[in-house]
Amino acid sequence: NWKFNNFVKNTIENIKQRVNKKKVILGFSGGVDSFITASIIYKAIGNSLNCIFVDTGLLLETEKEKIYSLCKKMPFSIKIIDAKNQFLSKLIGIVDPEIKRKVIGREFLSIFQEESKKIKNVEFLAQGTIYSDVIESSVFSKHSSESIKSHHNVGGLPKTFMKLKLIEPLKQLFKDEVRKIGEKLGLPKEILYRHPFPGPGLGIRIIGEINEKKISILKQAENILLQELKRFNIYNSVNQAFIVLLPVKSVGIKGDKRTYEYAAILRVINTEDFMTATFSHLSYDFLEKVSNRITNEVDGINRIAYDITSKPPSTIEWE
Ligand code: XMP
Repeated sequence: NWKFNNFVKNTIENIKQRVNKKKVILGFSGGVDSFITASIIYKAIGNSLNCIFVDTGLLLETEKEKIYSLCKKMPFSIKIIDAKNQFLSKLIGIVDPEIKRKVIGREFLSIFQEESKKIKNVEFLAQGTIYSDVIESSVFSKHSSESIKSHHNVGGLPKTFMKLKLIEPLKQLFKDEVRKIGEKLGLPKEILYRHPFPGPGLGIRIIGEINEKKISILKQAENILLQELKRFNIYNSVNQAFIVLLPVKSVGIKGDKRTYEYAAILRVINTEDFMTATFSHLSYDFLEKVSNRITNEVDGINRIAYDITSKPPSTIEWE
């Protein structure tokens, strides 16, 4: 308790001094980490904070709606930027997961760069980076080829990226600690206990090449999953749940017709800190319901498999 109170107090004080009269732009994703980062910075510098939410086209509709409605309730203002076409066009033809992540990360930065030019006196870019993002992106090795995966918001700013300095107040904390800070700040439980949604979004849940058709298929499947997690009262007892769309098709039968459609993976995990995780031991009733609904209701998926690997040796996301 004492540790977290002090953390918040010291962090606010440090940011206040560091930023002084300058302005900060913050890449706001709507997730726990960026909410808490924004709240702390707002306490330090008030309206000198400019939050920017980028609609990459790789978000779930439910995520977007939730974020839009939360945005209205927050004291700080959040500018929403529609960058769907920009992201999609840059991702055409890209299959390699690391290149995908780098393209997405670069696109975010280029948007922040454009936005920072529109505001006078911007000197800082704030991000909700937490410790596990940093570790997985680099710490195991100095050679980037040996890192686990490049989280979209990690790696510092390229030299050409104006002269913005980074503010990342949560960089030393794990997810469970970040949530405790959020509780201290009095943020609503519906924000604090939402499942994380990665910055690169559905882009890293479509294995192989991304296109609009696949995004639409995956969105429908994820929606059904979310509905059933709530209906079975499972949402709060697991830490993350999603669908991965494979680039593999399989033969099936719907009605009395042959189908040749994508196979998809259901991934549901339990974890403390997202550094290690186990697959969730869910009931067959739940698994059956999700599989039946997705294969019956979503045009384009005719097979679902449940991922029963832990982290390690797998990671939570597939890319
Ligand atoms: P992995 O797949 O590395 O995921 O086991 C650990 C947690 O991090 C999330 N994740 C990301 N979050 N940007 C983010 O904001 C990213 O690039 C990114 N990659 C993975 C993942 O959803 C899980 O919660």
